Amino acid sequence: MQLLHLLFVFLNIEAVFSLINFDLTHSIKSTNPIFPGLTPFNFTQTYTSWGLDGDTNESYFKALNTFITGEHFGTHIDAPYHGSNASWSVEQIPFERLVSIQALIVDVSKKSLRKRNYEIQIEDLNEDAMQQANGFYVLLFYTGKSKFWPDQITYAGGELREELEFPGLSVQLASYLVNKYSDKLVGVGIDTLSIDPGSSKDFRAHRILFKENIYVLENVAELQRVLTYLSNRRETLFSFDVLPMKIEGGTGAPCRIVARLENFDDAGGEWFCFLIFCLLLMLIGIAAKVIYDFKFHPDKNFS
Ligand SMILES: *[C@@H]1O[C@H](CO)[C@@H](O)[C@H](O)[C@H]1NC(C)=O
Ligand SMILES: *[C@@H]1O[C@H](CO)[C@@H](O)[C@H](O)[C@H]1NC(C)=O
Ligand SMILES: *[C@@H]1O[C@H](CO)[C@@H](O)[C@H](O)[C@H]1NC(C)=O
Repeated sequence: MQLLHLLFVFLNIEAVFSLINFDLTHSIKSTNPIFPGLTPFNFTQTYTSWGLDGDTNESYFKALNTFITGEHFGTHIDAPYHGSNASWSVEQIPFERLVSIQALIVDVSKKSLRKRNYEIQIEDLNEDAMQQANGFYVLLFYTGKSKFWPDQITYAGGELREELEFPGLSVQLASYLVNKYSDKLVGVGIDTLSIDPGSSKDFRAHRILFKENIYVLENVAELQRVLTYLSNRRETLFSFDVLPMKIEGGTGAPCRIVARLENFDDAGGEWFCFLIFCLLLMLIGIAAKVIYDFKFHPDKNFS
């Protein structure tokens, strides 16, 4: 497939491989679910008004808003410094660990449905896929909780810390990931309020990851759509970008998350490759014939 891809680039028919972009980000609104105790997003319309252009007499519109927010609101990144004093704050996370990386999704939605505060296990991983990553990558967990966004009660379990209820990483899994995969694994994401289960008291999964400078993505959106898209394909890894606000000294920041998948139908693609292959064979055949005729029958009239 790689070789054929190169051939396509060579033949300048790269369009077949155009990418489909998935925005894995919830819109930020004051009504988004929030981790109890944090500063919510407060959006104030500062003004809207009409002005008059002194030169043309045309009226024009102008608007300006102000917002106040905690760093950990909506779809956001937790910088490793959030729970490890010697680790990176938001602006210190190397750019190459955020942009043009890869990601894969682990679907734990069935188990999460069956067990409250399900603790994701090592067995839930798709380690074959993780080993196929050819550079930095993020591991995303789809628990199905995102279906309840933006309702605080069904999404998060309640308004109070002791009411929280959602799946998260087991301590064993967090330790396993940092011990075995921290060379290429740069981040772990989830479609809940926190990477630790709702019942967690001391954020242990957070702390284990942060110590190894692995960042965390919370309230990730639209993973279900990506899974559906991937369901009848062979690949599990896809291109991925995380774009947090570059807050100096930040322990976290709202961020935009983008998954980019090849817009390439496997079956159709193979037929297309076969066609190109036949065409090439034909061209080679014609060229060979011409050269043969020219060499052995130079008297032949080519006009
Ligand atoms: C939001 O911020 C504005 C402006 O600072 C303030 O007047 C208002 O009380 C705040 N609202 C809430 C819910 O905190
Ligand atoms: C703008 O409006 C003023 C007042 O009506 C007029 O004197 C002026 O000529 C206008 N200028 C233009 C560019 O139309
Ligand atoms: C982190 O905290 C420990 C314990 O207080 C301290 O020894 C260490 O120097 C700190 N590291 C940084 C980079 O601040």
